[in-house]
Amino acid sequence: MMTQIRPYRPDDLPALYEICLKTGDNGSDGTHLYDDRRIIGEIFAAPYGVLEPRHAFVAEDAAGVAGYILGTADTRAFEARLEAEWWPALRARYPDAAHVPPRERTRDQWDAYLIHHPPANPQAVVDLAPAHLHIDLLPRLQGQGVGRRLMDAFLDTVGGRAHLGCQAPNVRAQRFYEVYGFRRLDGVPPRSVVWMVIGA
Ligand SMILES: CC(C)(COP(=O)(O)OP(=O)(O)OC[C@H]1O[C@@H](n2cnc3c(N)ncnc32)[C@H](O)[C@@H]1OP(=O)(O)O)[C@@H](O)C(=O)NCCC(=O)NCCS
Repeated sequence: MMTQIRPYRPDDLPALYEICLKTGDNGSDGTHLYDDRRIIGEIFAAPYGVLEPRHAFVAEDAAGVAGYILGTADTRAFEARLEAEWWPALRARYPDAAHVPPRERTRDQWDAYLIHHPPANPQAVVDLAPAHLHIDLLPRLQGQGVGRRLMDAFLDTVGGRAHLGCQAPNVRAQRFYEVYGFRRLDGVPPRSVVWMVIGA
C-alpha cells in the first residue's frame, strides 16, 4: 500500500496521541521525557482532531496511521473553544504546576502548567494569518514527500494562508517549512519559538 493522505476520522484519535509523543522532543521521540504518555497529545494534537476535523488529515501506510497535519482556520475562535470545551476536563485531571519553580518542573509538570495557562499565539502573527497548523510524521514516513502532500491538503482548507510556531531547536523542520514556502517572522516572542507564515 502506498502512503495515503486522507481526512481524519474519529478512530484515528489514538494515533494522534502516539505520533505527538513520538515526535515530541523537537521532532524526535519524546517518550523518555514523560511519565504520562497522553499529556503532550492533549495539548498539541487531540483537540484539533476532536474540535477541528475539517482541517485534519492523516498519512497512512500498510502499518497504519503514521503522520498528521492538524490545525484551525481561526486561531482566536479555536482558543475560545478550548477554554469552553477542552481545558476544563483536563484541568480537573492534571493539577496546576505553577507552584513548582520553572527550572525544577518535569516535562509532565510543564505540560500541566500549559493546560492551566495556555499561551495565546502572538497577535502580530494571528493578524498576518489567522489559521495555524501542526504537522508530525513518524520517522518511517519522513523524507518522502509526505509532509509536502499533507501541507497541500491542509492549506487548501484555509485558502493558502497560515502560520505555525516551531520550537527553535527544531531546525530540520524549519528548513522543511522554508523549502515549502513559509517565511520566518523575526523578533516575535517568545524566543524559544520560531514563528513562520505562508500566503501573507
Ligand atoms: C518536518 C516534517 C513534517 C517534514 O516532512 P517530510 O515528509 O519529511 O518532508 P518532505 O519529504 O515532504 O519534504 C518536502 C520538501 O522539503 C525538503 N526538505 C524536507 N526536509 C528538509 C530539510 N530538513 N532540509 C532541507 N530540505 C528539506 C525536501 O527535500 C522536499 O523538497 P522538494 O519537494 O523540493 O523535493 C517531517 O520530517 C516530520 O514530521 N518531522 C518530525 C516532526 C517534526 O519535527 N514536526 C514539526 C514540528 S514544528
